[in-house]
Amino acid sequence: MCWQKSVYGPQSITRIIMNWKYKAHLLAVLSRVPGGRAAYHCLQRMAGTNRLQLDRDLNRALELVDLIHEADGKIAGSDVFEVGTGWRPMVPMVFSLLGADRVVTVDVNPWLTLPYAAETWRALGTRLEEIATRGGASLEEVQQRYTCCNAHAHTLVDLLGPLGIEYHYPADARCTGLPEESMDLVVSSNVLEHIPAEIQLDIHRESQRILRPDGLAVHRFNPQDHYSTVDGSITNGNFLRYSSADWNWYGGSGLSYHNRLRSPEYRTLFEQAQLSLDIFRERVDQRTLQAIQDGSLPVHSEFSRFTAEEQAVDYVWVAARKAPVDNAVAAASASLQSNRSL
Ligand SMILES: C[S@@+](CC[C@H](N)C(=O)[O-])C[C@H]1O[C@@H](n2cnc3c(N)ncnc32)[C@H](O)[C@@H]1O
Repeated sequence: MCWQKSVYGPQSITRIIMNWKYKAHLLAVLSRVPGGRAAYHCLQRMAGTNRLQLDRDLNRALELVDLIHEADGKIAGSDVFEVGTGWRPMVPMVFSLLGADRVVTVDVNPWLTLPYAAETWRALGTRLEEIATRGGASLEEVQQRYTCCNAHAHTLVDLLGPLGIEYHYPADARCTGLPEESMDLVVSSNVLEHIPAEIQLDIHRESQRILRPDGLAVHRFNPQDHYSTVDGSITNGNFLRYSSADWNWYGGSGLSYHNRLRSPEYRTLFEQAQLSLDIFRERVDQRTLQAIQDGSLPVHSEFSRFTAEEQAVDYVWVAARKAPVDNAVAAASASLQSNRSL
């Protein structure tokens, strides 16, 4: 039965798994059925797609550290708010090791678990020197902080508490409940591309409210088509070929949500929230740019207002600070409030 071999053999199965549309259909269905979110988490565990990738994940956290230093901010002694914890508290743990006083991290989804957190902490123990060097901290201090946590703790609170990390789920970064001007840093890694524009604007406004006057909002995000990481046959701008209506099924809703915003739109959202950009660094993916320019990636008219380079941006790094309040606007709003209270 040779035909069976060719249809169902390992190579065919690999081809199916690697085809982005199969993954997209699976996620679209799981997003729409009861219990789909739990099934998704289970599948991820089985496939190992949320396993710790120490080099990659640590480097992402350290990129935030680099951005903060580049924008003249500091981590030691700071109060930090993280948007979108995800599966592992890599960013909060690295910031804690570098001397942050308090790290509040929130997520609308329950991805973080005690085993993931403990595994991450144990793995970080092998990289203290690198963390100290890149974070500009003394190795002795980082080692000392590492000893204050018990990786065998029985609850997340017991594991994270001694590190000054407060994890909140379910919690929405649009309404943190934190006092005005109580945080030095608002950070996120690989989160903003998963948040619709109107919600992102509210998150930036909330960041603006909770940041101290000299505070920084520091984000790194990934505006590329995430399906290109499982299917090498598509470029990471592949999703630009679809209308919003078509994309809604593949990745415009539910578990695989990606907003497909292009970099000028992200820039506008920061500015609309009165966050002025110290750093806005973009990376253009050359393969995608080439495909757009030679016509092999036909871009939908919804994106035609962007240049080919803007369409092909696949990573962005941002450091923004509270824009100086316009005195005229502040005076007008103060007088409005005093009139109201009369
Ligand atoms: C792709 S994950 C990234 C997680 C983590 N930062 C990382 O790098 O592994 C994006 C996370 O943002 C969370 N998220 C989305 N909208 C949010 C919101 N409004 N407030 C807080 N978290 C949110 C999602 O639930 C998800 O866990």
